[in-house]
Amino acid sequence: MTAAVVPAPSTIRQVDAAPFRLEGAGLVGDADAAAALRGLVTPLTGSALDGDERTIELRIEPGGAPESYVLAADEASVVVTGADAAGLFHGVQTLAQLVHESADGWVVDAVEVEDAPRFRYRGVMLDVARHFHPVATVEAFIDRAALLKFNHLHLHLTDDQGWRLHLDAHPELTRVGSDTSVGGDPGGFYTKDDYRHLVAYAAARHITVVPEIDMPGHTHAVGLAYPQLVEAPVLSDHILETVAAFGGDAPAVGVAYDGMAVGFSSLRIGDERTYDFVADVFGELAGMTPGPYLHVGGDEALGTDPADFAAFIARATEIIADLGKTPIAWHEAGAAADIASGTIGQYWGYVTPTDGMDAKALAFVRNGASLILSPADAIYLDMKQSADSPLGLTWARGVTDVRRAYEWEPTEVIDGVAEDDILGVEAPLWTETVRTLADIDELAFPRIAAAAEAAWSPAVGASELRTWESFRERVAAQAPLWSAQGIGFHRSEGIPWP
Ligand code: ACM
Repeated sequence: MTAAVVPAPSTIRQVDAAPFRLEGAGLVGDADAAAALRGLVTPLTGSALDGDERTIELRIEPGGAPESYVLAADEASVVVTGADAAGLFHGVQTLAQLVHESADGWVVDAVEVEDAPRFRYRGVMLDVARHFHPVATVEAFIDRAALLKFNHLHLHLTDDQGWRLHLDAHPELTRVGSDTSVGGDPGGFYTKDDYRHLVAYAAARHITVVPEIDMPGHTHAVGLAYPQLVEAPVLSDHILETVAAFGGDAPAVGVAYDGMAVGFSSLRIGDERTYDFVADVFGELAGMTPGPYLHVGGDEALGTDPADFAAFIARATEIIADLGKTPIAWHEAGAAADIASGTIGQYWGYVTPTDGMDAKALAFVRNGASLILSPADAIYLDMKQSADSPLGLTWARGVTDVRRAYEWEPTEVIDGVAEDDILGVEAPLWTETVRTLADIDELAFPRIAAAAEAAWSPAVGASELRTWESFRERVAAQAPLWSAQGIGFHRSEGIPWP
């Protein structure tokens, strides 16, 4: 397949002309976009794109939809025109995907592409709490996300196993709350400069960082640093069963937790010191986060009384809103009647909802806000993608193959949630079993491309490209570019890899 673009563009048309040959071609126009294109095409082809026989022109022409671009290629030239810098950057990703080897060397076939995103919010999430991932790994994850036109990186910065961001107001969080990861693996944390660097690195790739500080559950690490802020662990049967199944010790007061159980910890809801803490934490975070969103978590607070949970969510989201930021919360927070207006919900139930999770998500929409969809049995990238791999978990109907990751339509997940109620789509990667960039690649690829297509491309039924048969061919064609970028993708069955 020679015009194999992932995520599928709005329109792509073959043009009756000979292909554009890369040999002897040079780049003109926007310098940032040119650097991005060289970063993709040079490792693939060996060409520095510094010839003068024919040109690839990269330019910005305001006027189109945000993040949109047009690409026109024939034997004489390639012109990529972005409506803004992000649109041009996305067009560069498309152009790199169109480069392929032929009898005439490396070429781009004659095509015309017109493209714009379906959803404004296209996210990936990396859990840096269950296993800490150093700055270089997060940079590599950002590069991978950019290839697929994602524009948000959600960092799950805190959990029972570790607090991963230094904050001046509460230095003990990282001094004593970040030493380990799941399985007793090494921990770590980001300095404020590390965090600012990641924000800037992402912004240079048109990606906005969405930091999450998970509350009121998932807070055992807080208690290591500030015991007065948390309750003792609630050791339900569910927790003890998880401990028995996955090993390690049960959670205990004052002891770093390196197991995989969830739902045993809670901040002290009735204590005013808790809200001083919440205000300090989100205030300091807001000061170094230029993006509009702060994620407050709110999931799996199984150790928190429901009325207390609702009261906490109302206050925490109000604190964030008062900082001038838009709160995001996992869908459980939809149960809180007094949640701050405008709070965005993130749905992590199944493609076919169970257990009333859809009702909690729908509450955000009823409250006048929108939803991010992260259906766990489709695009939780940490679900096993092969039964015999040590990587990944299975609780969300895993094993999850790439076809299941692909075959769902955002408007068909929750009754009463239509196109305009959906801010976007996000694929989370939790890292209980994930230690290295190679592990990330093996679990994320190629399923991350399926999530990108749900987020960017026309709806299922609105484009002939939005079928599994088309996707499997187009995703297979990414293999040379992915390999040239050093991505150790999983060679999923069912994909005709070259
Ligand atoms: C989640 O998977 N607990 C959001």
